[in-house]
Amino acid sequence: MKFSIKSDSPEKQRSGCVVVGIFEASKLSKSAEELDSSAKGYLSEILKRGDMDGKLGATLLLHGVPHIHSERVLLVGLGKAKEFRDNEYRSACRAALKALGATGATEAAIYLTELPLKNRDSAWKVEQAVIAAGESAYRFDQLKSKPEKAKRSLNHLILAVARRGEQAAAEAAVKQGMAIADGMTLAKNLGNLPGNICTPTYLAQQAQQVAAAHKLKIEVLEQADMEKLGMGSLLSVARGSRQPPKLIVLQYSGADAKQKPVVLVGKGITFDAGGISLKPPAEMDEMKYDMCGAASVLGVVQAVAELKLPLNLVGIIPACENLPDGDANKPGDIVTSMSGQTIEILNTDAEGRLILCDALTYAERFDPAAVVDIATLTGACVIALGHVASGLLANNDGLARELLDAGEAASDRAWQMPLWEDYQEQLKSNFADMANIGGRAGGTITAACFLSRFAKKFDWAHLDIAGTAWKSGKEKGSTGRPVPLLVHFLVKKSAEKK
Ligand code: BES
Ligand code: MN
Ligand code: ZN
Repeated sequence: MKFSIKSDSPEKQRSGCVVVGIFEASKLSKSAEELDSSAKGYLSEILKRGDMDGKLGATLLLHGVPHIHSERVLLVGLGKAKEFRDNEYRSACRAALKALGATGATEAAIYLTELPLKNRDSAWKVEQAVIAAGESAYRFDQLKSKPEKAKRSLNHLILAVARRGEQAAAEAAVKQGMAIADGMTLAKNLGNLPGNICTPTYLAQQAQQVAAAHKLKIEVLEQADMEKLGMGSLLSVARGSRQPPKLIVLQYSGADAKQKPVVLVGKGITFDAGGISLKPPAEMDEMKYDMCGAASVLGVVQAVAELKLPLNLVGIIPACENLPDGDANKPGDIVTSMSGQTIEILNTDAEGRLILCDALTYAERFDPAAVVDIATLTGACVIALGHVASGLLANNDGLARELLDAGEAASDRAWQMPLWEDYQEQLKSNFADMANIGGRAGGTITAACFLSRFAKKFDWAHLDIAGTAWKSGKEKGSTGRPVPLLVHFLVKKSAEKK
């Protein structure tokens, strides 16, 4: 899809469709008013008949509106004017794009981007509209024998900004929105693929493709390499599977080699059956999503390369399966991590931390400016925060603040939980340096406490995306989160370094 920015008034547009907003109680938005006065009151006449109530997400497509250059006008409900905020704006954009997709228009000019929103500039509105376009075009039907032919003629979206002075910022926002949308699509595709296709080897191949497309340095460590490094914790999880484990290391250099990189570490469990501590069968299929942290790292690395951000970035993905097997970890087993610390595995289903800890130790060699790991780590995080916010824990408050702010800016929010010393004692083991679980209480926090013991040498933050990386039920599917948050974080970081 092509995007362009324009600052002409709606009645002058010669595109296939002009999209304007209507508030509840038939209150016209500014651009709807402009159209209406050119059309000599045609729109208000229609609203009076009660065909469009302005309810959030409602749409009405009109043809042949008098004195208007465009073939069609699409009215989009915005809800109550007083309650129109970020989420309402995003819903309106999604509704508009859905309705546009059902028309034959190849080109449309969308004026929702001109709606006033508290604390949001037009760059934000443009970026969100571009992302919504990406999301509405998304289909995952590659595994259906007869994919439905999606009707989609729309290939050019014109985004209106009120003032010419906003043009440059809006164009930058289009680029950023497209990079985020592409990164989300990559992350979603990988997430939605089943465990029998998206194996550690497949993830490594996908990473190779991202690297080749953007001339990135890539290294894939095999089991033998990991043995040499002493990654006894990661390898203990992989031992229960016939799929060989991979440690994928991608490097993007957008700045002077002397500049310390940001390192992203993504959990890449391509299927989590729990191991010997087997999970119950209900919804176990959703554990194909246990590599969504890894997928988001690939999506973000791709987006950063696409945007050519002036910073250095390393993506590390420990990838394996967690299955029951005669050679799998058993409750009570004790393993030695790459850091030398020993771990008593009291629950083999707490495997994410077992692979992440060795990946974090591996990250030390890059002398990172900051390390952020992203993982579908705990069911407890879904209980605590639901499907709205990702969990955030960090050993540095400045880094935590930057990530929280990035989440706000991207509308992909995270919420911080405490990483106080008080919680560490729950990980005490009688037989090893630590246990891999800390009991039911504060499960997200004790998981992060475990990881923190392998992140002593750098500023580190952990994003628990168990509740945000995918949706269950009728709309089951990967969400592409937290690609937007991380891209915003890195854009900000690269700007401050310049
Ligand atoms: N991948 C799961 C976490 C998960 C569970 C994410 C459900 C989303 C929905 C992780 O490996 C896991 O199994 N965690 C255990 C930890 C427990 C054994 C301490 C959990 O959350 O139950
Ligand atoms: Mn598990
Ligand atoms: Zn898991």
